Amino acid sequence: MTPKILKEIQKRKTFGIISHPDAGKTTLTEKLLLFGGAIQEAGAVKSNKVKKSATSDFMEIERQRGISVSTSVLAFEYKGKKINILDTPGHKDFAEDTFRTLTAVDSVIVVIDVAKGVEEQTEKLVEVCRMRNIPMIVFINKLDREGKDAFELLDEVEQKLNLKVTPLSFPIGMGSEFKGVYNIWKNNLLLFTEENKQKIGKTEQIDDINDTKINALVGETHAENLREEMEIIREVYPNFNEEEYLNGTLQPVFFGSALNNFGVQELLDAFIEIAPKPQSKIADIREVKPEDDSFSGFVFKIHANMDPKHRDRIAFVKIVSGVFKRNTNYLHVRIGKKMKFSSPNAFFADKKEIVEESFPGDIVGLHDTGNFRIGDTLTEGEQLNFKGIPSFSPEHFRYINNEDPMKAKQLAKGIEQLMDEGVAQLFTLEFNGRKVIGTVGALQYDVIQYRLEHEYGAKCSYEPFSVHKACWVECDDISSDEYKEFVRVKQRYLARDKYNQLVFLADSQFSITMSQEKYPSVKLHFVSEF
Ligand code: G4P
Repeated sequence: MTPKILKEIQKRKTFGIISHPDAGKTTLTEKLLLFGGAIQEAGAVKSNKVKKSATSDFMEIERQRGISVSTSVLAFEYKGKKINILDTPGHKDFAEDTFRTLTAVDSVIVVIDVAKGVEEQTEKLVEVCRMRNIPMIVFINKLDREGKDAFELLDEVEQKLNLKVTPLSFPIGMGSEFKGVYNIWKNNLLLFTEENKQKIGKTEQIDDINDTKINALVGETHAENLREEMEIIREVYPNFNEEEYLNGTLQPVFFGSALNNFGVQELLDAFIEIAPKPQSKIADIREVKPEDDSFSGFVFKIHANMDPKHRDRIAFVKIVSGVFKRNTNYLHVRIGKKMKFSSPNAFFADKKEIVEESFPGDIVGLHDTGNFRIGDTLTEGEQLNFKGIPSFSPEHFRYINNEDPMKAKQLAKGIEQLMDEGVAQLFTLEFNGRKVIGTVGALQYDVIQYRLEHEYGAKCSYEPFSVHKACWVECDDISSDEYKEFVRVKQRYLARDKYNQLVFLADSQFSITMSQEKYPSVKLHFVSEF
């Protein structure tokens, strides 16, 4: 690997911002782009969220799908670093999308609303990051509003999210009394004034917390409070330690207001200093390092073209090692075919462009006519498969029926491609071959029906099917009597997923518990990778 390529790898920071809807993810993303000079004014990043009022309207999901193509990856340069932000939908119906995107990030920023505290989606997403030891920085947003006490919030973050935190900045006042943020990391004070609101704020260097300059800047009471609070922080919270942060065992916390541009630069400056460069990734046969000479990457997201006349799609590939080059033959490991790509796209904040080469940490968009599936690996010829894109049990299950016998082929192809995109999961029942669609949100059924009709010319209908949970089945000895009995007794509830793995579609928690007691050698997993 040449020094030039090593430098390119060192430069890259690929991350995702996660939050419960409305905490301020879009606003923060926009402000980061603004600081990076990637956009000139706020409002340039379209909100990709499904508005609350529109959740009964599946066309909103279609709209969202269109927008999220353009916000899938936002890249910009800042202080010599190349920053790639990967979009992670906050809406729970897209949770699976977000989980998959988290397999392609090297770190995350968690945004929390100061008034609402830790919310449900944040809990779920942080848990996934925690399980993978992804380094996390927490940003507590909307300090210009009245909210919870800062220490109370830090406690809440520790308890609900099971994190060990250390504040690197701390608010002075809140809401109408919000004076600014003391930057513990850099030992300076950023003042919040009306004129600073939309600009990069003014900072005052404070070398000593007892400096009376603080009193003059924020007033006696706030200055005294701040000193007391700093004392508490010193006593209660651990010092920041970069190694612990990178291991995922310590999470620095920043306070600010994304809307008012406040505390965002502190966050960004700390981020580029501490956030990890592209990381190694585990494949079935070995660990792949970004510095490895040969190229490898994996598909973490597939996006269908919005134009129904063109059924091509974009497969988003995260580059794990080596250099990806245009018009070069690469092995699509799952199907064993060599492929080359004449127009790989790189993504920037406001445009996408054809690129000649991309480096570890980067995302390239490849035009695809139906060859890719989420999780697929590309290499220079090595037979390796990246791990770690699991499916979770869907929440809803329905039989899918063909409503137009002349279009059976189109229906089958449409279902297969939508499942490859990760819109939903398909299960085929073992005993009668019927197809069952499992989704995270009920809305996805409308989307599937609509897209099958408009993109594939096929008609479908659904029938209710009561399933509590999909459990992936594992047994070391499938010739054992216990396994055979399990398969015989549960035959009406057994299905195959698209990878031909056996799945038990349990109708109740009771039936899962009973099965575990009765057939202990038959292991039931709640995620598809185990
Ligand atoms: P999301 O992507 O996490 O869903 O949140 P988004 O950034 O869209 O922000 C949700 C709402 O919170 C928006 O208001 C946004 O303006 C507001 N917001 C974000 N950061 C701050 C902040 O620091 N302070 C205050 N006071 N508000 C903030 P909205 O009314 O829902 O939308 P809009 O009409 O303003 O776009």
